[in-house]
Amino acid sequence: MKGTFPINKFRELETPFYYYDTRVLRDTLAVINKEMAKYDKFSMHYAVKANANPKILTVICENGLGADCVSGGEIRAAIKAGIPADKVVFAGVGKADWEINLGLDYDIFCFNVESVPELEVINELAAAKGKVANVALRINPNVGAHTHKNITTGLAENKFGIRMTDMDHVIDTALSMRNVKFVGLHFHIGSQILDMGDFVALCNRVNELQEKLYARQIIVEHINVGGGLGIDYAHPNRQPIPDFAAYFATYAQHLKLHPQQSVHFELGRAVTGQCGNLISKVLYVKQGANKQFAILDAGMTDLIRPALYQAYHKIENITSEEPIEAYDVVGPICESSDVFGKAIDLNRVHRGDLIALRSAGAYGEIMASGYNCREIPKAYTSDELV
Ligand code: LLP
Repeated sequence: MKGTFPINKFRELETPFYYYDTRVLRDTLAVINKEMAKYDKFSMHYAVKANANPKILTVICENGLGADCVSGGEIRAAIKAGIPADKVVFAGVGKADWEINLGLDYDIFCFNVESVPELEVINELAAAKGKVANVALRINPNVGAHTHKNITTGLAENKFGIRMTDMDHVIDTALSMRNVKFVGLHFHIGSQILDMGDFVALCNRVNELQEKLYARQIIVEHINVGGGLGIDYAHPNRQPIPDFAAYFATYAQHLKLHPQQSVHFELGRAVTGQCGNLISKVLYVKQGANKQFAILDAGMTDLIRPALYQAYHKIENITSEEPIEAYDVVGPICESSDVFGKAIDLNRVHRGDLIALRSAGAYGEIMASGYNCREIPKAYTSDELV
């Protein structure tokens, strides 16, 4: 089964471009809100890093989500889209002074802090403004995730978070500071996680840490469990909306909370992944020694995930119903890794055919580069192409 697209409109546009189906996005957001509403005190901060297209951020804002930002630029993008500053969390191992100041000026909800030196800088900059910054400590839970090695973050070997053995010391430091308020614990174990058991493992680790803190009579206001829920790259049409019911239920069942504690989530991919497609045109069909290549006008500069993580994106010839043949689908960039897929079954390909690279709404457009002096692809929503 192929996706449905406004092909005639596509024919009028310069390729390659991103196409966002806002119906899929809105349906996804509706399910998130419906499933989250079943639980008291669950709230979502969309991970802006997945896709910061202003049109996408506006829809996300209209649906009431907050934002998880990892740079000053993302804070600005979120605020510009209308997301209230008191729903903005700011994470990242290397926050520059100007970025911290920006967060302080906006009185954002919370800084997710990853080290004592960072805590010291936030305390100092907040003092200079006569403010008190809310901070959550990002703890590295040393929990693995069944996903690509480049996108696990919660293992001891990763650069992220505070080691569990250092937690007491860092908490003491935070508590001794006048211009930071220790309000929460933050975690994130990785991305594209489909095994709920990984989230259960995180919950168990959070519960252990909470017990240790409780023994010291410390109860934080909130627990932020990060993001990471994966999407079905193989079947974007069959399963356009991830299983949010199972995801939230996992946390509701396994996290042991104190009364009044709230739970915060930072999903990115699961929110925007399935609404986006990279639409490209076939430039040439070339015969190789024992295979044929479909050479597209889109390349790794437009969608880097296959080259960087050997990620799979479903590829469809959306303008042909001819018999299926196998192709290596490649881009025009001067790099051998500029390959979207090998031995891909496509309806027979001709020059000028339109090819959709599916499930590209997260970490697609936002990771585009200008390598080879190429333009960053434009983006259109289904609302604009009716
Ligand atoms: N929170 C934190 C602290 C994160 O580091 C991330 C993602 C998220 C939330 C959102 O994770 P998500 O729900 O989207 O899985 N470029 C890679 C993914 C990198 C993810 C980085 N951190 C990719 O294309 O697969």
